[in-house]
Amino acid sequence: CPLGFNPKDMLVECPCHGSRFTTDGQVQHAPALAAPPLYSVKVITDPTTGEALTLAIDTNACMVDVTLNFSDYPDLQVTGGSVVLNPPTVMCPVIVVRKSNTELDALDATCTHAGCTVAFSAGNGDLECPCHGSRYGLDGSVLAPPSTVPLRKLTATIDPTGTSFHILSM
Ligand code: FES
Repeated sequence: CPLGFNPKDMLVECPCHGSRFTTDGQVQHAPALAAPPLYSVKVITDPTTGEALTLAIDTNACMVDVTLNFSDYPDLQVTGGSVVLNPPTVMCPVIVVRKSNTELDALDATCTHAGCTVAFSAGNGDLECPCHGSRYGLDGSVLAPPSTVPLRKLTATIDPTGTSFHILSM
């Protein structure tokens, strides 16, 4: 069930069966046996005004280790196709691009400028952010501002039978 925050007790609570957790990831009340994953979140501010613009999951804390079937992602069955994987399949948005019959590219899809999710542009062969126009290469490098920090590249492999693929963060 989706958790909520109780500001009175400063605890995270499950409305379904009453489990409670501290904000640093400890079980405070059963029936939960283990706390949900803990994420590091950073506040991204406007460099000019200092105003908080958005919150973004710290990409260093976003671990990915998942095997998925191509049959569930038809867009990845053709070269030039792409998908964005979202939680709960992965901890943070991940963009996967079918580069060739035998190769995939996978990157953390969270724009390093202010946290929007980038999309693959088949026409340009790059990744583009819909919010302020940053562009990235499939190796994660910044091609166009305002972003100045590369996207994090992930390891993507296709299994020998060609039926599934594995995405792994370092
Ligand atoms: Fe600003 Fe991506 S969030 S360019």
